[in-house]
Amino acid sequence: MAEIGSDISKARTVLQNGGLVAIPTETVYGLAASALDLDAVALIFSTKNRPSFDPLIVHVENITEAEKYAVNWAEKALVLAKEFWPGPLTLLLEKRDSISDLVTSGMQKVAIRVPNQKLTLDLLHVLDFPLVAPSANPFGYVSPTSPTHVNDQLGDKIPYILNGGNCEIGLESTIVGFDTTDEPTIYRLGGLSVEEIESVIGKVNLTPHSSSNPQAPGMLKSHYSPSVSILLGNVKTNLKKFINKNDIGIISFNSRFENLPEKNQLKLAPDNHLNTAAKNLFSALRYMDTLKISTLLIEEVPDYGLGKAINDRLRRAATR
Ligand code: TXA
Ligand code: MG
Repeated sequence: MAEIGSDISKARTVLQNGGLVAIPTETVYGLAASALDLDAVALIFSTKNRPSFDPLIVHVENITEAEKYAVNWAEKALVLAKEFWPGPLTLLLEKRDSISDLVTSGMQKVAIRVPNQKLTLDLLHVLDFPLVAPSANPFGYVSPTSPTHVNDQLGDKIPYILNGGNCEIGLESTIVGFDTTDEPTIYRLGGLSVEEIESVIGKVNLTPHSSSNPQAPGMLKSHYSPSVSILLGNVKTNLKKFINKNDIGIISFNSRFENLPEKNQLKLAPDNHLNTAAKNLFSALRYMDTLKISTLLIEEVPDYGLGKAINDRLRRAATR
């Protein structure tokens, strides 16, 4: 198992020597390596079982650092960065030569963000290189939102997990890119809502549901999936289809079901707030994977604000 602690100089030493460290962010835990050390970057792909066509997000301390790795920013990109960094926003920007093709899977754009988590910002501050950090889970599985989640799956493959407690937001960052005319498009719904983005730069395009041959596998139809099979839809209606209810798990927004064991049901948002639902979503999916159930019933949450990103993850989790 990995060591879990809050020692930044220890994390730094591991990273400087080409090793991997799991880092907390406000969205999900990342599996970090030096973005400038290609052996370390390669180690991320093998540790996660991640296909090499799936590029990595570069994490930096602030806009000035980001400018060292990306050029020709769209005006709206800079506006968004100033408004939402540090925060759950990833920008796709034209890469400089300092960023290897291995990081971007050969693409000309690099994904960059400034995470909003004190320990990780402190760590970035003492490092003299940026960090690549995909979510710290095996490829295709649910992202981790606590040190325990990371340890459960990658604990025997990495030496150190920087402990920032539970993630504040619980959904991966929102990814925004710009076309040749600087028009913005959201490629992955996430912890920063469409409404918040549009309140600052106006209307944005949305193509997060594209294809089986996506530019970004966060867009793959099946992703973020637990092992148990999921039936997405009205839970009350779907529950009637099952005779043996002991075999069923339920994740609801905020409802309790009489004829089901208490331990088999979870509410995402006992307080009815979408940000609470976001925060609880991935640990709820992981919990259901520890139960001996045949089917997990889930219903979509209200489809606005963070609800859009939550529903996006639910649909992908339900797709085989
Ligand atoms: O919140 C987050 O973004 C977390 C934390 C750790 O920062 N990271 C994360 O990384 O979710 P990952 O690797 O699990 O998801 C990154 C997504 C992938 O779908 C990847 O394909 C896409 O970002 N991506 C990365 N670089 C890209 C690029 N140059 N062009 C298009 N998509 C890119
Ligand atoms: Mg991921």
